[in-house]
Amino acid sequence: MIVIGIETSCDETAVSICKDGNILSNIIGSQLVHSEFGGVVPEIASREHEKLLYNLTEEAINSAKIKITDIEGVAVTNGPGLSGALLTGVSFAKGLAIGLGVKIVSINHLEAHIIANFLEANNLSYPFLCLLVSGGHTQLWWIKEMENYTLLGESRDDAAGEAFDKGARLLGLKYPGGPEIEMCAKGGNSSLIKFPRALIKSKKVEFSFSGLKTSLLYYMDSFKKTDECKLNDVAASYQKAIIDCLVSKMKLAVELTGVDTISIAGGVAKNKLLRKMITKNFKKENIIFPDLKYCTDNAAMISYLGELKFKLGHKSKFDFSINPNFHNSKD
Ligand code: KG4
Ligand code: ZN
Repeated sequence: MIVIGIETSCDETAVSICKDGNILSNIIGSQLVHSEFGGVVPEIASREHEKLLYNLTEEAINSAKIKITDIEGVAVTNGPGLSGALLTGVSFAKGLAIGLGVKIVSINHLEAHIIANFLEANNLSYPFLCLLVSGGHTQLWWIKEMENYTLLGESRDDAAGEAFDKGARLLGLKYPGGPEIEMCAKGGNSSLIKFPRALIKSKKVEFSFSGLKTSLLYYMDSFKKTDECKLNDVAASYQKAIIDCLVSKMKLAVELTGVDTISIAGGVAKNKLLRKMITKNFKKENIIFPDLKYCTDNAAMISYLGELKFKLGHKSKFDFSINPNFHNSKD
């Protein structure tokens, strides 16, 4: 079956074609315009999606070497995300499906991030745990089987990606903050500054990153570069505090559930220190790392999950709406 996936939940405009579980094309138009504002500007994101969608769709179809009339189903992210941004993608997808006379299915962006672990990971089987770490969410999921997921816990406040993005701003770095902090931290001493690791000792799967961000804010107020402490030491110490919290709760989740296969998903899953610390703390044969290109927002995960949904007999009525706030696949 040939499915086109459309993703416009935040600042990546993405279109992909999936055929029988294989990704034929995966086109992403990153909106670099937000970088100068230090974060995503929702109104600009919607307008950019509108501008890019048509051409990226054409590119996705051409690079998949199919004809538009070969498409048998349309899958589109309808949440969570920015309302205006989601609306552009959903409206475009509905128009495309109606024009082609094919079915449509709405996709939960978070479920797609998790299921992206199956792309290129032939050895992944249920059940497994998934640490979903993106710009808007930090959650630990117990993935029992397809469409049977339990949320073990999540962040009480900021997401890990948000901690990277806000931290980067305080360090004078650009948006998105994750890759910036990762780069700045190179060669830095990660144990020089003792940033807090909130809730790390609690026996619940829960996270909190807002205190960490505030502690960086206070630290930077009086920060002066010296021979003993440079910006890369601060970045490395801050990054390590985030990663320590994530890895400790993964260990707790394994303890609580007895499930030892673990995976990661979302933009922060690209982080090299996170991958290194997971490799250090868990058995290699139990770890699934998604390909880097499937961590940050993409439409391959949407077309792939869309095809799975169609094969399960799901399809959406054409009057479905966006769901900007849902964070749970059962919503
Ligand atoms: O999954 P994603 O592309 O979008 C959302 O669904 O939110 O995640 C974006 C987040 C941003 O906060 C970005 O700073 C973070 O992922 N990120 C990283 C890295 N690359 C992207 N965080 C840490 N290290 C990275 N290398
Ligand atoms: Zn995402």
